[in-house]
Amino acid sequence: MIRHILVTGGAGFIGSNFVRYVVRQQPEVHVTVLDKLTYAGNRANLAGLPAERVTLVVGDICDAPLVQQLVQKVDAVVHYAAESHNDNSLQDPTPFIQTNIMGSYTLIEACRQYHVRYHHVSTGEVYGDLPLVGDAKFTPETRYNPSSPYSASKASSDLLVRAWVRSFGLRATISNCSNNYGPYQHIEKFIPRQITNILSGRRPKLYGTGQNIRDWIHTDDHSSAVWTILTRGRIGETYLIGADGQRTNQAVLEMILTLMGQPKDAYDQVQDRPGRDLRYAIDATKLREELGWQPQLTDFKVGLQQTIDWYRHHEEWWQADKAKVEARYARNKQ
Ligand code: NAD
Ligand code: DAU
Repeated sequence: MIRHILVTGGAGFIGSNFVRYVVRQQPEVHVTVLDKLTYAGNRANLAGLPAERVTLVVGDICDAPLVQQLVQKVDAVVHYAAESHNDNSLQDPTPFIQTNIMGSYTLIEACRQYHVRYHHVSTGEVYGDLPLVGDAKFTPETRYNPSSPYSASKASSDLLVRAWVRSFGLRATISNCSNNYGPYQHIEKFIPRQITNILSGRRPKLYGTGQNIRDWIHTDDHSSAVWTILTRGRIGETYLIGADGQRTNQAVLEMILTLMGQPKDAYDQVQDRPGRDLRYAIDATKLREELGWQPQLTDFKVGLQQTIDWYRHHEEWWQADKAKVEARYARNKQ
């Protein structure tokens, strides 16, 4: 029975949405968040949650004594904490190696020591990319073939978890999800960057021709999938999470512009990132058929409109970071 979980990275985008999901859906569960509050973490992401249900510990997942102290008090660990942005990993891979590999290692060692259930949140990017044309999708059998320092660091941590399951009997599951969108996403990422560009009078920036494809899922559907795997998934298994949401970047940007009352072509094309991935597509059959999971928020236009409204109504949440984020992109001609 799960009564107390440790959520690493619970003050980031997907982690905080997961914490909110658990508080809403699982009234008997207490959540301890371990988060370093890097540039991507924000106390405000947990604002309004009941103090008796959620405890925030500010600290580093690489801090073994702290991690051991927290892990021994919980029934399960759900590990979201990471350096998560591909563009940043191309500028400086160091924190990606440290947090994503060493931090994950620190967590699984503590879970091994205290026999605690562990769920590892990973990405479809570990499989590399797919050709733009065709209907191939990533499956749990797809060969690992990461492209960026970020995705290579996530792939490394997945492999550590698999080895800890096999060699040490770690009670772990892994999930690999596609691109999330929704509230509280850092404005360095594609969708919130474009929305906040428009809201702040800047032109949206499309990398390359915009023909690359991402497979979008609302972050609440990611949360329900992770909870399903945590509570009903088979130990040692990998589940892919996706909601059949493939769209070109150009189509997403045009939809944002239209929903925000702008001409469809009111954007700049800038250079693409080195080693860019062409297409991601997730085959979530195993999760759907074995565990009966289904996404709920599958109308992308509705989800996007809600996301736009969220950024419109939470300007105080993003405004202070905007100039700095754009200055950084401008230095890289993006
Ligand atoms: P994010 O960058 O918004 O949040 C990451 C959080 O981790 C932040 O709160 C940050 O402060 C914290 N953190 C970073 N280093 C830490 C450390 N050393 N110790 C403790 N906390 C630390 O990331 P996100 O987009 O919410 O992604 C969360 C997880 O989901 C990551 O593991 C990512 O690989 C995975 N994922 C993301 C997506 C996506 O579309 N964003 C898709 C699939 C999987
Ligand atoms: O698929 C899962 C992955 O999705 C996660 O593992 C990562 O943590 C998450 O950041 C995301 O990675 P991407 O690199 O796909 O996301 P990003 O939002 O950075 O970019 C999405 C696409 O949009 C990509 O093709 C690059 C493009 N892009 C991005 C930015 C920031 C633009 O065209 N313009 C932009 O300004």
